[in-house]
Amino acid sequence: QNEDTIRPQRLDDYIGQKDLKGILNIAIAAAKGREDSLDHLLLYGPPGLGKTTMSLILATEMGVNCKITSAPALERPRDITGLLVNLKPGDILFIDEIHRLNRMTEELLYPAMEDYRLDITIGKGQTAKTRSIPLPPFTLVGATTKAGALSSPLRDRFGIIQRLRFYELDELTLIVKRTAEILNASITEEGAIEIARRSRGTPRIANRLLRRVRDYTQVQKAETITDELAAMAMDLFDVDREGLDWTDRLVLNTIIQQFNGGPVGLEAIAAATGEDRKTIEEVYEPYLLQNGYLSRTHRGRIATNKTYQHLGYNSDKPSQTQL
Ligand code: ADE
Repeated sequence: QNEDTIRPQRLDDYIGQKDLKGILNIAIAAAKGREDSLDHLLLYGPPGLGKTTMSLILATEMGVNCKITSAPALERPRDITGLLVNLKPGDILFIDEIHRLNRMTEELLYPAMEDYRLDITIGKGQTAKTRSIPLPPFTLVGATTKAGALSSPLRDRFGIIQRLRFYELDELTLIVKRTAEILNASITEEGAIEIARRSRGTPRIANRLLRRVRDYTQVQKAETITDELAAMAMDLFDVDREGLDWTDRLVLNTIIQQFNGGPVGLEAIAAATGEDRKTIEEVYEPYLLQNGYLSRTHRGRIATNKTYQHLGYNSDKPSQTQL
């Protein structure tokens, strides 16, 4: 079974993100009532929370197609024009990492989003002509880890802007049990909770851990995933009790050991750990910040007392002058 077989297909099967679902339910009902396309939708938030899944669900609910692409794949103007002219009325165009669009592509999108019109330039210099091609009404669903990185003209063209939040433990537990059923893996309630607890609020991580734990359980010749087996497997994979993985701990240990607990800038952390700055900022940091392992000040990142305790440093963090 691949990613797609475990994705929920309908809004009712989608667990969590209550606020988002409420808003989309209304938007779907209203658009259907008017026989109109959905408003353009911007989804932002950390990776793995279900932005692509939600876009596919919207297409199913509206009975239209969803074309999936990402900003880095839209390098030349003809990449985006090719997609746009092939849309059917009401179709959804999903653009991942939409904050990374280049300027030309972004400017082609403005009239496309606003007036369903494609303005193209033919020829060069003095003899260049612009031509407008009408497009069918369509819905752009943009996804980004950082809404703030979008230019305001682009952001302003989305009718709905919604953040996806980290999932609660009970929601992740339901997701683990649902996926286990699809994978034909037997799991106890406590086993599902153990995996959910270590999933950093993120369904993609929960489902990945579940597969690894299932493999481990099978190799141990056990029938059912229990909390003990799940814990042993995840310890083995270096995912700790709080769900921090090797890279999380590397980042935190580096701040403590090499920078005295901070404050330290992202660049310096990236250089010292050998991790990509953007990856730290967009993938690792949001969960650490939200869960009190890291705090962000204007002078950089600082490790918290919780971090010192969790990583087993004997003393609390060294006392610091007021920040
Ligand atoms: N699988 C991954 N994310 C999910 C979600 N939000 N609801 C149900 N199943 C999922």
